[in-house]
Amino acid sequence: MTDTAPQPRVLIFDTTLRDGEQSPGATMTHDEKLEIASLLDEMGVDVIEAGFPIASEGDFQAVSEIARNSRNSTICGLSRANVKDIDRCWEAVRNAKSPRIHTFIGTSPLHRAIPNLSMDQMAELIHETVTHARNLCDNVQWSAMDATRTEYDYLCRVVEIAIKAGATTINIPDTVGYTYPFESANLIRMLLERVPGADSVIFSTHCHNDLGMATANSLAAVEAGARQIECTINGLGERAGNAALEEVVMAMRVRNDILPYETGIDTTKIMHLSRRVSTVSGFVVQPNKAIVGKNAFLHESGIHQDGVLKNVETFEIMKPEHIGLTAKNIAMGKHSGRAALRAKLKELGFDLGQNQLNDVFVRFKALADRKKEVYDEDLIALAADQAANA
Ligand code: KIV
Ligand code: ZN
Repeated sequence: MTDTAPQPRVLIFDTTLRDGEQSPGATMTHDEKLEIASLLDEMGVDVIEAGFPIASEGDFQAVSEIARNSRNSTICGLSRANVKDIDRCWEAVRNAKSPRIHTFIGTSPLHRAIPNLSMDQMAELIHETVTHARNLCDNVQWSAMDATRTEYDYLCRVVEIAIKAGATTINIPDTVGYTYPFESANLIRMLLERVPGADSVIFSTHCHNDLGMATANSLAAVEAGARQIECTINGLGERAGNAALEEVVMAMRVRNDILPYETGIDTTKIMHLSRRVSTVSGFVVQPNKAIVGKNAFLHESGIHQDGVLKNVETFEIMKPEHIGLTAKNIAMGKHSGRAALRAKLKELGFDLGQNQLNDVFVRFKALADRKKEVYDEDLIALAADQAANA
């Protein structure tokens, strides 16, 4: 028992199945979507954006089935700012234990120009569509697409309209990954200070990664008061992708001293989900990707290997087990030293004497010069050969 008060919660909204699936070539089958949704639900994601029901019959069917099967997560569907989209979305999500309608419109000058709406006309449309959504569902999210390039005064005006019309979550997307972390924080802070009723809703951040700042921008928004992060597994998403779920969640876990918030995520499920999303989307995870890349916990240089063998914290800020990886943090290559070789061989069942180890070390270095990475099988062969000839 501990008498520590629970930390305030940041909600995790996963959009792998909607924004993630919008990546060119990342289309998933119906069964794959169902499997990923079930894993996300099990992992403790608060909201799963399961798709865009009006986009196709396939999307509608997938969102409907995910909603029917949902256990813990809120199931959300996306809809544009029109009654037909919103009705279709509601039809798809209504059988979830906890349904949400997510409706959006582009509020920046560039986006207002597409439907050719004046500021007043767009404000009226936001009022009508959010009111309509709220008449169907108690849980309504409204997004100001391209919020980070929208005039501040206008953004305040439309956010206030959406709140008055019944939105329960207000999402502030950095649609084109344009913002800097300090701007991301200032924007949320400004909205919380200026918009009447802002304290009655949850502010959400939705960051794209065009300049590689999606994770930093999401965390900066939380620091300023956002209480929902929208993200995807492996950062899958349009163009350079979205904020990666594994990054924002692990950043808050590892640096809880900086952002003292809880998420409901069981982080030990991260690695499995990352692999499944990579397989079903066909998007390979880059080896040096933070948290889930193949090399994220591997050390090759002699100095690093020696350090982690003596005290793992010398070069690791989190444990592989925390993301569901069994601890295998030594990669054998030409930079590895004798201590790492001895430890590795011991792990593989070979307890060699000093002379034997020296011989194997010489042959290992020669092999490592020819190969990028020396695998366990290579080491077993070298050690077994040494033992046979001893
Ligand atoms: O990036 C974006 O603005 C979006 C919205 C639809 C929320 O994905
Ligand atoms: Zn997006």
